[in-house]
Amino acid sequence: MQRKQKPNIIINNLLITDAGSEGVCIGKYEDRIIFVPYVVPGDVVDVKVIKKKKSYYRAVVIAVHTYSLDRVISRCKYFEMCGGCKWQNMNYERQLHYKRKQVIDNFQHIGKFEFPEVNPIISSELIFAYRNKMEYTFSNKRWLYESEMQDVDAGLVDTNGLGFHFPSMFNKILDIHHCDLHDELGNDIRNSVRKYAIDKKISFCNLRTQSGLLRNLIIRTSSTGDVMVILVVTEFNQEVEGLLSFLKQKFPQITSLMYVKNIKMNSSMTDLVAEGYSGNDFLMEEVGDLKFKIAPLAFYQTNSKQAVKLYEAVLRLADVKKTHTVYDLYTGAGTIALCMAKYAKKVIGIEYIESAVEAAHENATLNHIENAHFFAGDMVDILTDEFVALNGLPDIIVTDPPRAGMHPKVVSQLLKIMPQRIVYVSCNPATQARDIALLAHKYVVKEVQPVDMFPHTHHVENIAVLIKRSQD
Ligand SMILES: C[S@@+](CC[C@H](N)C(=O)[O-])C[C@H]1O[C@@H](n2cnc3c(N)ncnc32)[C@H](O)[C@@H]1O
Repeated sequence: MQRKQKPNIIINNLLITDAGSEGVCIGKYEDRIIFVPYVVPGDVVDVKVIKKKKSYYRAVVIAVHTYSLDRVISRCKYFEMCGGCKWQNMNYERQLHYKRKQVIDNFQHIGKFEFPEVNPIISSELIFAYRNKMEYTFSNKRWLYESEMQDVDAGLVDTNGLGFHFPSMFNKILDIHHCDLHDELGNDIRNSVRKYAIDKKISFCNLRTQSGLLRNLIIRTSSTGDVMVILVVTEFNQEVEGLLSFLKQKFPQITSLMYVKNIKMNSSMTDLVAEGYSGNDFLMEEVGDLKFKIAPLAFYQTNSKQAVKLYEAVLRLADVKKTHTVYDLYTGAGTIALCMAKYAKKVIGIEYIESAVEAAHENATLNHIENAHFFAGDMVDILTDEFVALNGLPDIIVTDPPRAGMHPKVVSQLLKIMPQRIVYVSCNPATQARDIALLAHKYVVKEVQPVDMFPHTHHVENIAVLIKRSQD
């Protein structure tokens, strides 16, 4: 017997009132929250419910009755598909408003500690072509448009693609021919790589089995004009050499051409080594009068111009004095530590990617800085009582962990060390709020400064300054 299909739930004339976490907007229907992607607060829409939970529904738009005054026309043809720039249809001023609000909401609802009025967010000078790093994935079974379906069986459609993962679909790649977050050169390099590989019949990755020669393409640029291309492959052979040689000839602007061999089932790169094919094995970045050498697989803030503003804000909020010892946790290539070194007695950076720590040492030498010391390893293992006894109690700790925030053991260690000031830099205000909540009985939040590093996305960088509570 055929099961009776439940009728679709349609909600008419839903007013969108807010922009929530993960970039999805919010409306209210009866006592439920309705999450709707790709709309803008102020829109009035009809939606179809696609997921039902007790306290909320997830829904998609089926008709728009009123367009919000905050709407703009999204310029990307992959908008609503790629999932990268969920707010490209919202004007930039409103994006900034909702990012700042995200910080406030997380601090209020997750953190539940007291904090002062959050500063106006520092906006990004560039709102397009601001990314200095793009990572694309090769797939032999790209996402196909409906218009292509009937020609696939006849062999008339090339199913190879090079682009981004569809949101929450690990094995589907959206073939990208233009991305507004990257500059023209980056777009040209990606498209040329795809065309060359297809013309030469080089195999693209099968994402289910992780077989096929070509896996990822990483393009990095820097504020000094450096361009690095890293090809991730399952083996280095003549076909790969041919592709690299083609890139070298076609794009003399490339200053580093590298490849990485990856035969693992996952594409994480922290445990892999980048090999040089031609040019430098680093990128050079500039922050004020400092130069930074960035290793191929090492972290650097993805918006170089905003990185300068972020570091300026961190420096102001740290209020470093010549008598201070500063620890910079999760230091990457030592950028924050080295920006502070000339104002401090001593700076200590800790980071687990060894090549980044090597670069941090080199960066200290490059900038003639002698009071900076760097250590490689997992934060939990390095930041021990012995380490602090050996390197001196810090007056200030700057911490800039990845999205997951700090390990609870690291937070406990901060509570043991008890520096006068903690400057917590985060790209995820939810985990930042969680961690600060653990520190809040010993620290007061003195200032909160959001910075926009990622226009058109819901992501926000946030700096919180914590001051040790007085004993009485
Ligand atoms: C958000 S980045 C910050 C980098 C640096 N502060 C900057 O502005 O360029 C986080 C850094 O933490 C490092 N990291 C992640 N987990 C770590 C851990 N458990 N121990 C030490 N470092 C870690 C990453 O490699 C990355 O360089």
